[in-house]
Amino acid sequence: MKPKIFVARAVFPEVLERLAQHFDVESNQEDRIFTADELIAKVQGKAGLFSTPSEPVSAALFAANPQLKAVCNMAVGYNNIDVAAATKAGVQATNTPDVLNETTADFGWALLMATARRVTESEHWLRAGHWKKWSYDSFTGPDVHGSTLGIIGMGRIGQAIARRSLGFDMNVLYHNRSQLAPELEARANNAKYVGKEELLRTADHVILVLPYSKESHHTIKAADLALMKPQATLINLARGGIVDDAALIAALRDKKIAAAGLDVFENEPAFNPDFLGLSNVVLTPHIASASTPTRLAMANCAADNLIAALSGKTPPNLLNR
Ligand code: DGY
Repeated sequence: MKPKIFVARAVFPEVLERLAQHFDVESNQEDRIFTADELIAKVQGKAGLFSTPSEPVSAALFAANPQLKAVCNMAVGYNNIDVAAATKAGVQATNTPDVLNETTADFGWALLMATARRVTESEHWLRAGHWKKWSYDSFTGPDVHGSTLGIIGMGRIGQAIARRSLGFDMNVLYHNRSQLAPELEARANNAKYVGKEELLRTADHVILVLPYSKESHHTIKAADLALMKPQATLINLARGGIVDDAALIAALRDKKIAAAGLDVFENEPAFNPDFLGLSNVVLTPHIASASTPTRLAMANCAADNLIAALSGKTPPNLLNR
């Protein structure tokens, strides 16, 4: 008999077919985000759970499902999974690193360019019929080329963002839990390791790509925003809780910083409606990894992990320590 698994959200049909060769698959046909209790009920009797960043996979889920052996997240970020509780419950937890680095870095640039060069703001204005003449000061803003880029979180995605900055003649500063090896700094456009305060004071554009955890909660709050240059931009590609959204809204409203580009939000898919009243923020719905090939690679990577875990092998991207 094939082991039973639950696929928590809609996924590529070819990946579901692949999973079905190994498992007795039940999947979320409605593609709605289940409540914690609904998810616990769906996982009853299942050996594996294929999850996404939208499902909180908690100690309560493990306690209610002692038969569960593996939870495989289709994301590099895994703050939705209580990995310590998984380890205690003997459940293998996995993520999908690497396959999304370059696509996510591309999107970091898209968001930075759109934010600094006011792409979406000016497009909304044009669509609303306001364009009557060319003006010397229409939608002017900071330059990207030749400026200083500050990257907070210099993992593989941060390094991929830094590599791209070479073509823009940028100076790169980074802040990270630890300093990179000299050869990695050299490949990352000679990025210079600095303290968070120096980075925030000096950078023209700040990109957040660090993992979310209790320690990184509100890495950027009012006091940090106050350090930034008034013409600076802030880009968040990581997780919503890394920025205090209320403090950011105040800083954008009071022009303490020029603009922000946000792909992630505290409590997403809900977000603070005050963002909608601000013209100096670019808002996207958590799509940094959303190229078709990369999303397919992520789904296959999660499937590889689940297949390995439930056939007694060590999954390639095991998170339990
Ligand atoms: C990740 O992989 O963590 C992304 O945020 C999901 O696209």
